[in-house]
Amino acid sequence: MKKEKRNNLRFDSKTAYIPPDEATKAVTPPIVMASSFQYDRDIFQRILDGERKDVNIYGRCGNPSEYQFEDQMMVIEGADACLATASGMAAISITLLGLLKSGDHIVCDWTTYSSTHEMLDHRLTDYNIETTFVDTADTAAIEAAIRPNTKVIYFETIANPSMKVAPIAPIVKIAHDRGIVVVCDNTFASPYVMRPLDFGVDIVVESATKFIGGHSDVIGGAICMKSELLPDDFLEQIRWNTMVKLGAPLAPFNAWMLGRGIQTLSVRLERACRSAATLAAYFENHPSVKQVWYPGLESHPQHHIAKEQMPKFGGMLTFEVEDGDEALTVLDNLELSCFSASLGGVRTTTQIPALMAFLDIPIEQRLEMGIRDGMIRVSTGLEDVKDLIADFDAALALL
Ligand SMILES: Cc1ncc(COP(=O)(O)O)c(C=O)c1O
Repeated sequence: MKKEKRNNLRFDSKTAYIPPDEATKAVTPPIVMASSFQYDRDIFQRILDGERKDVNIYGRCGNPSEYQFEDQMMVIEGADACLATASGMAAISITLLGLLKSGDHIVCDWTTYSSTHEMLDHRLTDYNIETTFVDTADTAAIEAAIRPNTKVIYFETIANPSMKVAPIAPIVKIAHDRGIVVVCDNTFASPYVMRPLDFGVDIVVESATKFIGGHSDVIGGAICMKSELLPDDFLEQIRWNTMVKLGAPLAPFNAWMLGRGIQTLSVRLERACRSAATLAAYFENHPSVKQVWYPGLESHPQHHIAKEQMPKFGGMLTFEVEDGDEALTVLDNLELSCFSASLGGVRTTTQIPALMAFLDIPIEQRLEMGIRDGMIRVSTGLEDVKDLIADFDAALALL
């Protein structure tokens, strides 16, 4: 299928379609496990001439299975370029290290994924890169934080655990008026729910480990770009000057697994979004639940923004019981849902953000961010939602 036709398909068709393998016509792409590739005179000359894309050299620099995944990601994110990485954190660190240098400044939302926060707050400071943490739902706070050396504004499309939805178009306007690059982590949404590049974001990073892989059995990441601020070959530049040097390519088998995950993304997410909305309504009416955060609820602080940006609202929600002990009682007594660290899988997973993802953040700071011990985060899977409600009902009845 021609590139233009493929790009004009509806989203569900984009996820399902993979071009047949050129050599064998296999409808499922082969996995190329090679870590090294044989040169001939022609390839050798092309490499000597500086050609890097489309020549296979060595597994750390790229691999056909990885390129296959990059191609699928580009189509479903609406990107002009994609760079696959060993994990979501590799995507985030390679992007930031590729964009920033000593003396630069970044404005970042204050409730990003814990390792992202720690990298900005503790590691990049060692390299003289400073971050100001703000609530990116507050565009006035973003404007106030910008300095002459601000190079990046960074946020998550749906933030943990408040399910905050950042207002993308106004953030992009503030940034682009000043030549600042906008980067966003789209992991909690996935491209089924939200495609930030359509709203002017320059770079989207994904932990493909989550909804994209979708089966809790593979780690991987992706950096997708569509930008008028950055050079067209920016991702190829950072492939060579950052990713290859840090040594964080996506392994071929993982790339293949993630490509397979993409093919079922739409049907999985359709179910996950529907179940999340049903569960959110159930929790809202439960006497032991103090508060619920789901972008589809009218009570959600950014409901109106979510409706415009991501009307499918996503498969992630949070509800709050009295305290950490109660939260632990609920999670420890769930039998169908799985009490575990990750999200985006076939099974519904639950966790206590304050005592897991945000444990290393000082308590005063955590409370200021609105992250309390009794909050329970849920990632809805593919179970029948009636069984999920029965499972939560039995566990909440113990409080
Ligand atoms: C929002 C978000 N971003 C990034 C990451 C990091 O992804 P990975 O574990 O694939 O490195 C995670 C992991 O939980 C996450 O939740």
